[in-house]
Amino acid sequence: MRELIDASPYTVAFTGAGVSAESGIPTFRGDEGIWRDYPPALYGNLPGLALAFLFRPRRLAGLASGVLASLLQAQPNPCHRALAMLEGEGRLRAVITQNIDGLHQAAGSRLVLELHGNAFRLRCAGCGKRTEVERERAFGVLESLRESGTRRRLLKALREYAAPCASCGGRTRPDVVFFGEGLPPGEFNRALEEASRCRLMLVLGTSAVVYPAALIPQAALEGGAKVVVIDPSRTVLSSRAHLHIPAAAGRFFALWLGRESAPGQYSADG
Ligand code: OAD
Repeated sequence: MRELIDASPYTVAFTGAGVSAESGIPTFRGDEGIWRDYPPALYGNLPGLALAFLFRPRRLAGLASGVLASLLQAQPNPCHRALAMLEGEGRLRAVITQNIDGLHQAAGSRLVLELHGNAFRLRCAGCGKRTEVERERAFGVLESLRESGTRRRLLKALREYAAPCASCGGRTRPDVVFFGEGLPPGEFNRALEEASRCRLMLVLGTSAVVYPAALIPQAALEGGAKVVVIDPSRTVLSSRAHLHIPAAAGRFFALWLGRESAPGQYSADG
């Protein structure tokens, strides 16, 4: 893997929920995934969420508080840190992520293309302005969500989170992409550009089944790039990848970082 990175003139990473699993944020699919208990047909899109708000407010509050708590507690793990380090050394051009947790930026990555938005950002429906959600306010919202058994309380918590736009007073919403919504075009087009330009793509912790994001590794393959998958499970990309490393990304990069800081200490090369 180190040889592949060193030999590549242009490397980008494409990441999914699996890279944040070791930071305590659940993935979506599989036995431990969010969608097992909260089917995406209801909880993954806005019309479904509106129905859940009307008919299952307690359950919706449980999902929202669980997700928000894990996002607030999470810290970058060695995978996030290794990608930031590689970028700092000029060995990685960009991270293209489907994650909304901001952990790549927290680890120090600078060029992060967030295809599905960011949970700590709001977007104004009126003027389009994007604003950060301060952690302190998010912790307050978490408290309110934990007390939300009724629609009225849940609405109060949601209003606390999506405060009116500071510029125009318009209505805001979380700047994340739900199923059925378009991806931010600027980010997606830039991601496609990076994918077709790269010679090596690290595909980390994603089932790569959600479109259009899943077009990104496909664009890399079609452009002739080598693809390395790091994922404990086989994915739809494993058979087309140059290499599949069946490992947890955080654990893999913890060993890798150890070797980078103390070369020669480990005999096997990752
Ligand atoms: P998934 O839950 O579909 O896939 C997570 C992948 O991470 C699986 O392949 C796991 O095997 C793998 N995995 C689990 N633990 C890991 C670890 N420690 N290290 C490395 N890999 C690990 O999550 P995504 O592919 O990110 O979109 O899902 C894509 C999109 O589907 C999400 O952005 C979200 C979701 O629905 C929307 O909601 C629009």
